[in-house]
Amino acid sequence: MCFINGPNLNMLGMREPEIYGKSSLAEIEKEMRILARQQGAEIDFFQSNHEGKIVDYIQEARGRFDCILINAGAFSHYSIAIYDALKAVEIPVIEIHLSNIYARESFRQQSLISPLAVGGVFGFGALSYKMAFLAACELLAAGQKGKG
Ligand code: DQA
Repeated sequence: MCFINGPNLNMLGMREPEIYGKSSLAEIEKEMRILARQQGAEIDFFQSNHEGKIVDYIQEARGRFDCILINAGAFSHYSIAIYDALKAVEIPVIEIHLSNIYARESFRQQSLISPLAVGGVFGFGALSYKMAFLAACELLAAGQKGKG
């Protein structure tokens, strides 16, 4: 599985910590790697401020990852290109947000990713990543059981 992080998430820790928390993205990544090791899962962790680079990464995810966990940042609210790429690759998607986007400005209250996602976790800061990861593990394990 892979984690995709959109614009400005490289600024976590110093960016509006009252909204996004004090953890840096590197700290979140470290925590996810520890958790992945515990669960016996392989993860890739990617961040870009550029819409096209995120689209490229999603396209390359086909056949490479069994689940996409994505916090697309501001792109969540308006990027049809990311929406189309996620739809095209047909990989289960889990949406992540640190903040509760539904309790914020009206322009954040719509996500183009939600309708494509199996589910999402928002509002728990760095814990949203952990919960999304554990949900992905359960989802994949249930899928494998179903196939077996
Ligand atoms: C965010 C919420 C978005 O509205 C915002 O643009 C972000 C971060 C979150 O994780 O809460 O960059 O995705």
